[in-house]
Amino acid sequence: MSRRPTIGILTSGGDCPGLNAVIRASTKSAIRLGYDCIGFLRGYEGLVEPVNYMPLNAQNTAGILLQGGTILGSTNRGRFTALVGEGERVRIDPALLEEVAVTVRQLALTGLICVGGDGSLGIAQQLHEYGIPVVGVPKTIDNDLGVTAFTFGFDSAVAAATDALDRLHTTAASHERVMVLEVMGRHAGWIALHAGIAGGGDVILLPEIPWTFENVCRKVVERDAVGKRFTLIVVAEGARAPGGGLVHAGTGDCAGQVKLGGIGEIVGREVEARLGREVRTVVLGHLQRGGAPTPFDRMLATEFGAHATRLVHEGRFGEMVCYRPPDISSVTIAAAIGRLSTVDPHGSAVQAARALGIGFGDDEDSCFGGGGAVVPSRKV
Ligand code: F6P
Repeated sequence: MSRRPTIGILTSGGDCPGLNAVIRASTKSAIRLGYDCIGFLRGYEGLVEPVNYMPLNAQNTAGILLQGGTILGSTNRGRFTALVGEGERVRIDPALLEEVAVTVRQLALTGLICVGGDGSLGIAQQLHEYGIPVVGVPKTIDNDLGVTAFTFGFDSAVAAATDALDRLHTTAASHERVMVLEVMGRHAGWIALHAGIAGGGDVILLPEIPWTFENVCRKVVERDAVGKRFTLIVVAEGARAPGGGLVHAGTGDCAGQVKLGGIGEIVGREVEARLGREVRTVVLGHLQRGGAPTPFDRMLATEFGAHATRLVHEGRFGEMVCYRPPDISSVTIAAAIGRLSTVDPHGSAVQAARALGIGFGDDEDSCFGGGGAVVPSRKV
């Protein structure tokens, strides 16, 4: 058993690029402050029977800055689940909370750094309320946490989606096809918006802006009319189908929530049927969640990790690090959870996109220079 004070770290929920950078930064900075570190395996599951952890040190965290995923493993299933977003949260079984408290006591942890998205931070808050000394670090590729300007993982996901669009661009142009790219974004369309703009998309469909097939098709026809016989459509998995709800992929559930997917295929099929054009649909899926973090995400994750260790050192439990440009600071976890950040339909990024002629499938598209094209309103 170690005689130095010890900090525990865990990564919870869906993985994302930058988790290892947090682990490395927290560990390296903790060692310099005189702590030992241990990492719990498979998220919160590692805290309860059979308790599962590994030592973290200078040797086994060396070289992980650029590795995707998490060396500690993670899960968004299991005994600890909490609903994401607003509304009633799932309460964790008090017996489970007590098991965590026992583990923390037995290992004499000074503090526990919990790295996770909204659902995982909701669990951290329940641990905090139970008297367990936790500190939070926000992560999600979806960038939908309200109190931080950016979460790490988002920039890497946008880079992957932009790369996919770059590749789709050349093949779409060669074959004069409509290409639909479905990207992640359960509650918010940040990935679709940023990659759509950065990757030269022509139509971006978001959960935040209701859209119609007529308007999507109109954009394709308008482009045809000016000799641009291909169109790139980017759609967030959480974009509701017109007149319908969220599109689910199978029956699996994610932390109490259904698995999304399939809206891209619906858009592709409908455009093909209405316009008689060749359409291909690509679902980017977990390719946008895997792989190395971008330099921005390495930087943000490193600052988050070091700051989280400092919060433990200063005894500021129940707080979560956040990025409020230009500084890294902290807020209470209680104030952070359940506050989703969604795309502002009137925000500057959407306005800039509209000014360039990018469509969002709504009636405003035609206010920005389009609107002249006649499109079939029913299937042909
Ligand atoms: O919350 C991040 C996210 O990437 C969502 O965009 C997506 O719906 C979900 O995770 C998928 O998670 P998994 O495939 O791990 O269940």
